[in-house]
Amino acid sequence: MKYNKFKKNDKSDYNLVFIYEDKLSGISKSIDCSTALKDIKEAVSKKLLCGKLGSMETFVSTMYDSNYFLIGLGKKNELTIQKFEKQLSSTIKKINKYNIDKVAIDLNNISINNYNTLKGTIIEFEKSKYSFRKENINHLKECSIKVPSNITKRTFDNTKVISIAVAHGLNTARKLGDTPPNICNPTFLANESKKLEKLHKSLKVEILDEKQMKILKMGSLLSVSQGSLQPAKLVIIKYMPIKNKQPIVLVGKGITFDTGGISLKPSSSMDEMKYDMSGAGSVVGTMQACAEMNLKNNVIGILACAENMPSGIATRPGDVVESMSGISIEILNTDAEGRLVLCDALTFSKKYKPKYILDMATLTGACLVGLGKYPSGLFSNDSTLTQKIKKSADVTGDRVWELPLYSDYFDELKSNFADIQNIGGQYGGAITAAAFLANFTKDEKWAHLDIAGTAWESGKNKGSTGRPVKLLTDFVMTNK
Ligand code: BES
Ligand code: MN
Ligand code: ZN
Repeated sequence: MKYNKFKKNDKSDYNLVFIYEDKLSGISKSIDCSTALKDIKEAVSKKLLCGKLGSMETFVSTMYDSNYFLIGLGKKNELTIQKFEKQLSSTIKKINKYNIDKVAIDLNNISINNYNTLKGTIIEFEKSKYSFRKENINHLKECSIKVPSNITKRTFDNTKVISIAVAHGLNTARKLGDTPPNICNPTFLANESKKLEKLHKSLKVEILDEKQMKILKMGSLLSVSQGSLQPAKLVIIKYMPIKNKQPIVLVGKGITFDTGGISLKPSSSMDEMKYDMSGAGSVVGTMQACAEMNLKNNVIGILACAENMPSGIATRPGDVVESMSGISIEILNTDAEGRLVLCDALTFSKKYKPKYILDMATLTGACLVGLGKYPSGLFSNDSTLTQKIKKSADVTGDRVWELPLYSDYFDELKSNFADIQNIGGQYGGAITAAAFLANFTKDEKWAHLDIAGTAWESGKNKGSTGRPVKLLTDFVMTNK
C-alpha cells in the first residue's frame, strides 16, 4: 500500500471527509480541497447529513464526478483517538466492498494531535490489508493523505515508516494468534522468531529447550508443559542497537493452547484458548516493529511458551514445584498456568538488568469479567512506570485501566505446603494473579498487562486484535 502527502491540485475520485454533528455548518473547512463544496453545503442545509458517530454518508458530486464518504465523528470536543480509529476502520471495511483502489483522506478537521492522527490513519489502512485467509485481501492500493500544514514532508515520511512498522508488527501478532493450535505450538513460535531473525540483522534470537530450562531450575514453567507432547520453549529476541544501555524487557505468555490441564476447562468456546499465546504474539510483533523502524532503544522480548494439556503425566492440583527464583509453589489449580510460566520467565529476565519489565498475558477470565473487552488490565509496582504506560495507552487508543495491588491480595496466596499457592480466593481473580507475579519482580520496575479481554474478538468477527502492539511500540519509542 502506498501513502502520499496530498498536494494542492491533486484530485481523487474517492474522498474521505470527517464531519461532526455539532459542526455541520463548518463543513466548508473540511472540504476546501474539493470542488464539490456547493453541493455538500446544499445537502447540509437540506439536513441530508447528520455527522453522528458511526454514520457514513456517501455523496456524489455529479458536476465533478467525485465521490465523498462523509464520516460522522459525533461531537467535536468528545472525539478520542480510539473513536477516530474505530470509525476509520469500519469506513475502510465498507469502501473495500466497492473495489476502490485509490482514496484521498482529509485529516485537517480532526481535533486530536496531528501526528497521532496521521499515525493512526496509516495503521488502520495497513490493518485492513490483513486477512488470515489470502482470498479475502482487499483492493485498495493507494491513499493520498491531506494533513495540516504543520506536518512537514519530513515528518510525514518519518511517520509513514513508523506507522507501517507498527502495523506490520500488529498484523504479525494477529497472524500468530489466529494460527490454529495444531500448527502454532511452542516450537512454531520459536521457529517464527528464528525466521524474523533471518529477515532483520538487528534481531538476535536464542531458544532454550526443556533440558536447558531444567538446568536453570525453571520447575514452575516446566510443570505446565509436563502433560503435553509439545515441549516448552523459552524464546529470547534481542534488539540491542545501543551499547551500554539498559534494555526494556517485554515478557509474553505463550500458552499455545490452554485446556486447563487436569483442572479441565468446560468445552464451550475452548477453541478460543488458541489465543492464550497472544501475549507472546504481541511481543514478537513489537520486536519486529522495533527492527523495521530502526528504533534507537534497547528492547528484549521473552516468550514463555508451553501447551497446557491433561494427561497421565500432567501436574495434579496439590503438586508443589520449585520456581527458578527458589520460591516454591503449590499448584491448586492447573488452569492457573499462565502465572506459572511467567514467573520463571520474569526471574530469567533479571539477568538483562532491565530498566523496566512489562509482561503481557491473557491471564484471567476475571479481568474480562471486571473490565470488559475495551481496556487491558494494568498492574504495576512503580507509579512512574504506570504513568508512562497510561500515556502510551492514551495516545495510541490502546486503552488500559489500572487495578490495585494492596497487600491484602498477597495474603490470599499463602499456602500451608509451599511458599505460595497459584490461586487466591473466589474474588478479584485478575488481581490475585497479578499479585502472584509481583512476588517475582520485587526488585525491578515491573508492570503487568492482563489482555484476556482485549487480545481477540469472539463471535462472528472472531480473530486476534494484535493488542497491545500499538501501546508497546509507543512505550519503547517514548522511553529511551
Ligand atoms: N487463559 C486463561 C484466562 C482466560 C480465560 C482468558 C478466558 C480469556 C478468556 C487462564 O489460563 C485461566 O484459565 N485462568 C483461570 C484462573 C483461575 C483458575 C484462577 C481463570 O481465569 O478462570
Ligand atoms: Mn488456564
Ligand atoms: Zn491460560
